[in-house]
Amino acid sequence: MDFTDRIALVTGGGNGIGKTTALAFAERGASVMVVDLDEAAAQSTAHAITQAGGTASHTAANVTQAADVQAYVKATLDRFGRIDCFFNNAGIAGDVAPIAEYDEEVFDRVIAVNVKGVFLGMRHVLPVMLARKRGTVVNTASVAGLVGSPGMPAYVASKHAVIGLTKVAAGEVSGEGIRVNAVCPGPIDTRMVHDIAAQVSPDDPGAVRRNYEASIPLGRYGTPQEVANVVLFLACDLSANVTGAQYVVDGGRTASPKGVTAKPT
Ligand SMILES: NC(=O)c1ccc[n+]([C@@H]2O[C@H](COP(=O)([O-])OP(=O)(O)OC[C@H]3O[C@@H](n4cnc5c(N)ncnc54)[C@H](O)[C@@H]3O)[C@@H](O)[C@H]2O)c1
Repeated sequence: MDFTDRIALVTGGGNGIGKTTALAFAERGASVMVVDLDEAAAQSTAHAITQAGGTASHTAANVTQAADVQAYVKATLDRFGRIDCFFNNAGIAGDVAPIAEYDEEVFDRVIAVNVKGVFLGMRHVLPVMLARKRGTVVNTASVAGLVGSPGMPAYVASKHAVIGLTKVAAGEVSGEGIRVNAVCPGPIDTRMVHDIAAQVSPDDPGAVRRNYEASIPLGRYGTPQEVANVVLFLACDLSANVTGAQYVVDGGRTASPKGVTAKPT
């Protein structure tokens, strides 16, 4: 997975999966533009890359705002001249509550970041890639884009939408040298899952993790690095025949949750 002379653009690059993936792109030779709502976090990722001898820049943007998205695309072109790999990753979890009680404003916010943000990213990056007839896009969906998760209606709806947008985009640009795929992480050890656990069980968030891990065939949460590895695979030429696909990184849970058996009791 060689990204020498490649330009990678990463949204949500200030923390978690985005940060680790930005660092992984840089370790393998890419120059990276780090985008995040949290400018200090974006700057910290870019700083970590340059400290390690890589090349990076950062810019603050709210992915729900078209003007901000156009500005991060322009900042990338002004600094690096093109975009080879786009990791369209920024996302939020929203509240944990059933549909019958879910807050309407939170629903709108989750859809705005996770769906409109992903749409706007492709809306403004794809024309840049189409002009060169080259590029790869990886959208961050989730296993919540494949199956339901009671208590997370906005998040589940938003991630199903990301998979839909991925398939549409892949078909639209398939003859133009551009591939578009989705990565579907299960629970990954970042602040997002810790926030969810704290909402579900404020007195014992660790219990949420233990219960969930008991249902994962590989027995543990994934790491941001394990997601980054799959993102880099989808972003590089090793996956040259892969487009419109969804790659699950969840320790096997979606395929075969532990404890669910056909054996009569
Ligand atoms: N952690 C998991 O278990 C998990 C599982 C499946 C999918 N995901 C997805 O992975 C992606 C990254 O999540 P993470 O776990 O690294 O979370 P995180 O909270 O650690 O990082 C998310 C980053 O996105 C940024 N962000 C949020 N809203 C933004 C906006 N409007 N504009 C620009 N940046 C914004 C945040 O500032 C933050 O730096 C998300 O799309 C999330 O839904 C995470």
